[in-house]
Amino acid sequence: MIHNGIIENYKELKQELLAKGIHFRSETDTEVVAHLVAEELKITPMPIDALKNVIKRLEGAFSLAFIVDSVPDQIFVAKQGSPLVIGLGDKETFFGSDITAFVNYTQKAVFLHDGEIAQIKAGEIRLWDKNDQEISPKITLVQWSPGSADKQGFRHYMLKEIHEQPRVVSATTQAFVNQDGLNLEALGLKSIDIKKVKTLHIVACGTAYYAGMAAKYFLEPLLGVSVNVELASEFRYRDPYLAPNGETMVMAISQSGETADTLASIKHAKEKGCQIFSICNVNYSSIHRESDGTLLMHAGPEIGVASTKAFTSQVLCAYLWALGASQILGRLNKDELNSIIQELKTLQLYLAQAPNAEEKIVELAGKLYQYPNFLFIGRGMSNVIALEGALKLKEISYIHAEGYAAGELKHGPIALVDKQIPIVAILPHDHYFEKTLSNVEEVCAREGQVYGIGDEKDQRLKDICVQVVPCPQVKNPVFQAILSTVGVQFLAYHVAVKRGTDVDQPRNLAKSVTVE
Ligand code: F6R
Repeated sequence: MIHNGIIENYKELKQELLAKGIHFRSETDTEVVAHLVAEELKITPMPIDALKNVIKRLEGAFSLAFIVDSVPDQIFVAKQGSPLVIGLGDKETFFGSDITAFVNYTQKAVFLHDGEIAQIKAGEIRLWDKNDQEISPKITLVQWSPGSADKQGFRHYMLKEIHEQPRVVSATTQAFVNQDGLNLEALGLKSIDIKKVKTLHIVACGTAYYAGMAAKYFLEPLLGVSVNVELASEFRYRDPYLAPNGETMVMAISQSGETADTLASIKHAKEKGCQIFSICNVNYSSIHRESDGTLLMHAGPEIGVASTKAFTSQVLCAYLWALGASQILGRLNKDELNSIIQELKTLQLYLAQAPNAEEKIVELAGKLYQYPNFLFIGRGMSNVIALEGALKLKEISYIHAEGYAAGELKHGPIALVDKQIPIVAILPHDHYFEKTLSNVEEVCAREGQVYGIGDEKDQRLKDICVQVVPCPQVKNPVFQAILSTVGVQFLAYHVAVKRGTDVDQPRNLAKSVTVE
């Protein structure tokens, strides 16, 4: 038996089984379900019927799969709250919580809905809905091509995905920009009423939350509405004020489209009468299906647990969406939009140059990988990149790292500064440059060792930093944030490689977080 999710009433069910003299080998809720199925099979020998009876007794959000030894050529699966997708191959059938698990083998997918149960065999599927009616499976052709989930010669998926970012920018540009400007339909703007919106809440988790934080910097001026960015795990339980009748929009940002907290947040907001929009990478995912409008990213499958190309794609997509929304609201004129689109065309070229810094970063990683603590600093969107850089480093190298707004250092964290804590400063030539540089000077005065990500030709940077990691410089702050991100991604990757950790599957983490 395989189980994803949580069985909330497992303790009561366990008591019942214990009273029957069942012996348990673990403390898990999964084992309780396995015993329940085994007991039910004694009175209901058809496994599919036994499963239906057991499912009726379970509470919580879960997906289940099991094999019974009497019918070893069949697998029985059920979905309730957690994602479950079946892949139909040639004389073979797959299942997983995400299509990335089998996209290299088949592009034919059947997305199960809550309460559905299926009996699968090699190349065959039978499906029942929540009312126990047999239904014909709806087969969806997944857009991702086979091979797009391969490592393609790279040592790790994460490295491949960092290098893929110029291609993602070009695919994103093709999808959302046409001869007349922006494709408002593809941006999902035709499915919602942006003119009604007075408040926008962005809900997301982890790296996607940081993409939301970066988006706040451009969404507020472009839309002229206040934007609140919140961790989905907080939003869903805090009883936020949500004006009804579509005046509040809740935007979910999620690569997988399956993150449980993010999904629960939009379900809650929908009940309150909010407009729901999502930015997702996975088509037909639960968050996509739950939204009034969706912008589907063109990042392709992301396999490495640490999000890289999905983050830069989320920021870029949110920006294009904001530009489209601003145009509808009459806040952005054609000339302004055209000049941004021109700059966007050069982003791909600059992004393709970003890996030129990789060799220097490998060298730097060799010097720094044994330090137990790191600090990342920046201002404006670079503050968000600092947070993302710290998260990337801690999740794959297991080094403690903190991201801080450079202007906040003197309110506490500067006390950490000494020779023993490398400080990575994100220092692009933007309007925060002078301010961040003074923060760097303050840190250096306390023996801080600063490694800058910025313009390697800038003499002031060279003078003050132990080393400058070169990063192409552009005028547009959003594109600059995307370019700076590559530096922190490479740094985290190469430090982790030096430490010998499992880069693509870091301990204790999962790619889709389908439980809260
Ligand atoms: C970090 C990372 C996670 C995810 C988070 C949300 O590298 O990948 O923090 O960003 O679990 O996942 P999605 O975007 O699938 O909702």
